[in-house]
Amino acid sequence: MRVFVLNGPNLNLLGTRKPEIYGTTTLADIEQQMRHRAEQLGIAMDFMQSNHEGSLIDAIHNAKGNYQYLIINAGAYTHYSYAIRDAIESVEIPAIEIHLSNIHAREAFRHDSVLAPVCVGQICGFGVKSYLLALQYVAEMEN
Ligand code: DQA
Repeated sequence: MRVFVLNGPNLNLLGTRKPEIYGTTTLADIEQQMRHRAEQLGIAMDFMQSNHEGSLIDAIHNAKGNYQYLIINAGAYTHYSYAIRDAIESVEIPAIEIHLSNIHAREAFRHDSVLAPVCVGQICGFGVKSYLLALQYVAEMEN
């Protein structure tokens, strides 16, 4: 089974970006932790980050036929990108929405996710473990 992990804008700054909210783990560390866990779980994984909405949409389109699950932290696009929402819906690959922080406990504009209705579910608030929990879900669904 192959899983595609997508990361949206500003997540390349993890490690130094608002550490009191996002912690000090870098995106490269997250990728490494995920690769380690994926290997243990027997999951093949690809990982990408982009600050550009269109690049994320292209990547979602290209995922069709190549991946069984998407794991997506769309960053701030989560809250307003109907284009990413439609891309997820269009490819019909089960998607898991994830966030490091608990978006429901933060500013009001973060409480809504336009992606959530086209995702299997949402995992948020567990820091790096949000990513690892998504992998765990995928593994349990497939075994
Ligand atoms: C985030 C939450 C978003 O509201 C924010 O814009 C991000 C990161 C998170 O992982 O907690 O960029 O997706």
